[in-house]
Amino acid sequence: MKFFLDTANMDEIKRIHKLGLVDGITTNPSIIAKEGRDFEEVVKEICALVDGPVSAEVIGLETEEMLKEARDIATWAPNIVVKIPMTEAGLEAVHVLSQEGIQTNVTLIFSAAQGLMAAKAGATYISPFVGRIDDTGTQGLTLIEELRTILDQYQFNTEIITASVRNLTHLQGAAKAGADIATIPGSLFPNLWSHPLTDIGIQKFLDDWEKANAK
Ligand code: E4P
Repeated sequence: MKFFLDTANMDEIKRIHKLGLVDGITTNPSIIAKEGRDFEEVVKEICALVDGPVSAEVIGLETEEMLKEARDIATWAPNIVVKIPMTEAGLEAVHVLSQEGIQTNVTLIFSAAQGLMAAKAGATYISPFVGRIDDTGTQGLTLIEELRTILDQYQFNTEIITASVRNLTHLQGAAKAGADIATIPGSLFPNLWSHPLTDIGIQKFLDDWEKANAK
């Protein structure tokens, strides 16, 4: 399973990248706005550091606007993936971009039907939002299971990025369901690699060692 980092914060990216856990990066307009930096500048900096797909999202809502932005964004670096919202106009843009060899990530997927439409239009990646589905009172992870079954059944090459990951259960569930990728906020990583029993275990080893070696 690949891990993408769901951030545009360079300190977070550098910290996790050092551990060999970063296969790519996803951003969205909210994530970019949080950094208070120029969109193009920050995306180019990320692309130079991370040797993997880096998603940068268009703002336009009409197909022609999306295509104009996407073609420009795609020139920023060879590892750019253009993020397109899951709308009719977005599907048309994805279809055209796929024929031009520009990689796309269709975002804001909340149903299996939307995922299937995006894959059929030619999306390189689809991003189902598990956390935001949980917020509505239903199980977001069910969508990952459904999409895995559907994409395999019809042999689509489109990869599933489990997005809106908020906790350990989301990551473990996505891995179990066979998602190709999980995109994870930097702040969540420490919760994934740590466990209170690990800390207690380390302390006990150290205490026992100290007692045994006490003069
Ligand atoms: C990533 O591609 C998504 O934009 C992101 O995971 C959304 O996460 P959120 O629902 O926590 O904002």
